[in-house]
Amino acid sequence: MKILALCGSLRSGSLNAAVLRSATDLFVPPWEITVEPDLGRLPFFNADVEENDLPEIVAELRARLGASDGLLIATPEYAHGTSGVLKNALEWLVGGGEIAMKPVALMSASPAVTGGDRARAWLTETLTVMGANVLADGLRIPQATRKVKDGRLTDEPTLAALRDLLDDLARAVAAAREENPLLAP
Ligand SMILES: Cc1cc2nc3c(=O)[nH]c(=O)nc-3n(C[C@H](O)[C@H](O)[C@H](O)COP(=O)(O)O)c2cc1C
Repeated sequence: MKILALCGSLRSGSLNAAVLRSATDLFVPPWEITVEPDLGRLPFFNADVEENDLPEIVAELRARLGASDGLLIATPEYAHGTSGVLKNALEWLVGGGEIAMKPVALMSASPAVTGGDRARAWLTETLTVMGANVLADGLRIPQATRKVKDGRLTDEPTLAALRDLLDDLARAVAAAREENPLLAP
């Protein structure tokens, strides 16, 4: 079972990238996780370009999503929403349709006590309208600067919550496959 992971932050010292790194540490065969490289490489979404000359980098992203059983997203919260880079990537993914019915687990890390709740709520709405199956319980990581060290999550209760989230994602992928074997990539 393959999971594609997206990080909404481009920052080198990103808390969300650290959380995603810790998530990849927890994957064991037969599970595979591929972290999508730097979403900042995608051009800004333009419907004319999509229609006439789809960039290869977008086609590759769509193909990787199509070959995945589910998505894991780590989002920063900027001005009470998700980041522009992540929204831009999702705009390119609307037209491909590969996300339909795929289980999606959301995580957000923020230095604030709100833990990125508004970014996850915002993303839930967008992903749901795209037809994704967003897991009801995502992972909120408030005061994340205290919980990350050397590019990894170090806070034990948060690591336990991360394991629970990945278990939920695994269950959702298994249930989706059982309901519709055609969904398997
Ligand atoms: C322009 C900007 C807007 C921000 N808005 C919010 C916000 O609305 N809510 C919040 O919790 N944090 C906000 N923050 C703080 C980010 O959560 C913080 O910079 C976080 O570390 C970004 O994620 P990253 O570490 O993965 O890059 C904002 C930061 C910036 C630079």
